[in-house]
Amino acid sequence: MTGLNVVDHPLVAHKLTQMRRVETPSSQFRLLLTEISLLLAYEVTRDLPLRDVRITTPLTESDQPELVDDPVVVSILRAGNGLLDGVLQVIPSARVGHVGLYRDHDTLEAIEYYCKFPPMEGRTVIVVDPMLATGNSAAAALDRVKANGPASIRFLCLLAAPEGIEALRAAHPDVAIWTASVDECLNEVGYIVPGLGDAGDRIFGTT
Ligand code: URA
Repeated sequence: MTGLNVVDHPLVAHKLTQMRRVETPSSQFRLLLTEISLLLAYEVTRDLPLRDVRITTPLTESDQPELVDDPVVVSILRAGNGLLDGVLQVIPSARVGHVGLYRDHDTLEAIEYYCKFPPMEGRTVIVVDPMLATGNSAAAALDRVKANGPASIRFLCLLAAPEGIEALRAAHPDVAIWTASVDECLNEVGYIVPGLGDAGDRIFGTT
């Protein structure tokens, strides 16, 4: 299996603890999510391919590295948009796709209601969703992305449940996962424990 990357950084751990607290209001939660996503984006892009280009500095000509291609970032609606802002601050030239999926409350299956992607053939695609819970939404989003012929795909989340990691590994063994934490388990209604609750509700102040 391609790697599971748990981003081990004191600032990530500290901010995540503040996000988990039930008393943290949406305004603060959003701010923390943007800050943490900057740090996660830094890690998930660590090995993006570079090529040397000839440039002219004020002093001389020189060969210097730049990204081979701008990556594509795909947000799984709606909570993915909470991670997207920070990722785009680090990679402002990225193009952005959205896929809308909701969980059927009874079956926990992912149902698609929206999908719009930029061209992604031959590109690196980073799929973002704060919570890797059952893995159903992530696997469905990756199916859609793969149908568009990217060169490689990475999955970036904030929290992952062991069950979600296993499900995503089984469905998409070629996709590496980056997360700030692997939590204990899913509860009987598919929430991550200890988790942080419903990420979409906490980002947008809904209930
Ligand atoms: N989605 C969430 O927002 N939270 C969970 O704990 C699981 C899925």
